[in-house]
Order: sequence, then C-alpha cells, then structure tokens
Amino acid sequence: MIILSIDTSCDETAVAVTEGRRVLSNTLYSQILIHKKWGGVVPSLAKRAHEEKIDFVVTDALRTARVGVEDVDFIAVTQGPGLAVALEVGIRKAKELALKHNKKLISVNHLEGHIYSCFVQNRIGNPRNPFEFPYLAVIVSGGHTQIVKFTDHLTYEIIGSTVDDAAGEALDKAAKLLGLGYPGGHVLETLAQQVKNEDFYRFPRPMRNSKDANFSFSGLKTSFYYFLKRAQENRESLDIPKLASSFQEAVFDSLIYKITYAMQETRIPNVTVGGGVIANKHLRTKIRNLIREYGSRVLFPPFPYLTGDNAAMMGVAASFKALRHQFADPAKLDRIPRLELTSQTG
Ligand code: KG4
Ligand code: ZN
Repeated sequence: MIILSIDTSCDETAVAVTEGRRVLSNTLYSQILIHKKWGGVVPSLAKRAHEEKIDFVVTDALRTARVGVEDVDFIAVTQGPGLAVALEVGIRKAKELALKHNKKLISVNHLEGHIYSCFVQNRIGNPRNPFEFPYLAVIVSGGHTQIVKFTDHLTYEIIGSTVDDAAGEALDKAAKLLGLGYPGGHVLETLAQQVKNEDFYRFPRPMRNSKDANFSFSGLKTSFYYFLKRAQENRESLDIPKLASSFQEAVFDSLIYKITYAMQETRIPNVTVGGGVIANKHLRTKIRNLIREYGSRVLFPPFPYLTGDNAAMMGVAASFKALRHQFADPAKLDRIPRLELTSQTG
C-alpha cells in the first residue's frame, strides 16, 4: 500500500511517499529563510511559497521514491491544525491529484502525524519496534503542547494541553527577547550547552502544582521579560548563555512535572514524544531519566528529520486510516485551522 502524502500546515512544503511504516522518500522545501527576517511566519508569504513549490516537491518525492504516480494507492493530506491559507494549498493539490489519477483521499490531523513520528521506519523497515499500546503521547512543537492517551491506532484522548503558549513558542519568544533570531529553540540549546544546561536564575514554573496535566508558559515569558528589562535599566551586563539555559530549564521542568503527573494518574508507563522541541538533547536526557525512575519505555522520533514538520509521519498515520477504510470525500474535504485531535471512526 503506497501513499503519497502532503503537509503544508505551516512553513514547510512537505511531500512523502510511504509504504506502511516505511519511508520511500521525504521531500521538504523549508521557508525558514523567507520568514526569518520577519521574526515569525508571514501567512501571505507562506501561501505564495507553497504554491510556487508544491509541484516541484511532489515530483521530487515521486522521483526519489522511484515510484510512478500510477503506483500510488492513496493520496493523504493534512486537514489541520495549521495556517488556513497554507493548508489550502496542500488540500487543493491533493484533491487535484486524486481526481486526475482516480485515487482515494485520506485526511490526516497534523498532531496525529507528530504522534506517529515515533513509529516511522526507514526504507528497509528499521527500527522494527512494534506497537505496545497504550502510550502517553506527548507533543512538544512550536504550535502545540499536549499530553494524549494513545490507546490504540487512531484512538486519542487529550488529557493535558497548554492554556496559552506552546513550549516551542515560549522558547522562540525568549530567544527573540535575547536578540537571537527566529526560530530560537536550537540557538537556546547551543547556548545552554555552553553552561552545562544549569539553572542560574530559577525562573517560575507556572501551574506546577495545579493537579492536572495542563501547561502554561506565558507567565514565565512575562517574568523573563521583566527580568531582562530590570537588568537593562540597572545597566547590569546580561549573561546570554546563563539566561538561555535558565529559561530552557524552566520550560523543560514544566514538561517533566506534567509528564510525571500524567504517568502517575493514568498508570501508563510507556511514553512517546514528538514535535520540534524534542530535537533538544538535554530534554531527551531529562525525559529518559524520568522514565528510568517511573516508567518503562520512551520512544522519540527515530531520525532527526522526524522531529520537525514532515510528510513522512503523515503518511504513516494515513496508512492506519487506509487499513480501516477511513477515506475523505473530496467534495467535502476542507481545511480546519483549529482542528482538534479526536478519534475518528467512519
Ligand atoms: O514541530 P515543529 O517543527 O513545528 C510545529 O509544528 O510547530 O516545531 C518547531 C519548534 C520551534 O518552536 C523551534 O524553536 C523548536 O521546535 N525547536 C527546538 C529545537 N529545534 C527546534 N526547541 C528546542 N531545541 C531544539 N534543538
Ligand atoms: Zn508540527
């Protein structure tokens, strides 16, 4: 079963060809350089870049996979959540391909892609880890921070979410305040490593004792902002690596507290973690240490490209929909920018 999948949910034009969990090709055109100078994603520029690149990216993914479009069984596409004008480009292209080549369409939630990213295999089927449900699936990206009970294929129950900013968004905002550019997660990681990831300033950990699995990062950001403002007013010199490390530690501690809480409440010891922020090595170490103490197993995306946005993870999620005959009606399929993660049957 070969699937061509498209994800244009934000600032990457992504197309992959997958067969079950195996990735035959994964092509990505990143718009980061376009948005960098504006300090964030500019919707109109994203839309135009997706439109300009989508045909090239589809062709490249098929060529790299050494697959003709006639060999493709299904076309999968991200329906949401994401940027409306960006999602539209991928959905339009998926419908066009499905109609032209007489293929069935599968719609995928971007967040289920991030969950399935931990189960993606390379072309020859590695890693071979089987599914051992249930999992606590954690998503830590630029747009989302969630803890989800993942009890069977395509079966989700959200047990915790951020009430304001996402973890990656908080890191990006802190990096911006420090004048480090956008996106900032990776830059903060490098600076924090210079000071051994230590916590020097003990910024607050909002909602630490809230007895739920929800997160909040905007209070932390505000406290960081006033800390910098005060220091500047007092003409104190700022130690950027120490600030980066301390802020990062506050965000990661919040994640650790709530993953611990969720593991204790649900008694689910197996954890998966997907999304851009899990590219961070220090966060991986903190989560591994936690699992050593409380849990039994943690899965991260097995290859670096799977932490950020990509279409391979969407194709793997779509393969389980195809097995259950969950197809989308091309006449009705439309983007849903605020699509929630729900279990779909049908
Ligand atoms: O999953 P992703 O590529 O896009 C979304 O769906 O949002 O996540 C992007 C986020 C950004 O906030 C970026 O700063 C963060 O992931 N990120 C990192 C690292 N690499 C990317 N955060 C911490 N450490 C990193 N190494
Ligand atoms: Zn994403």
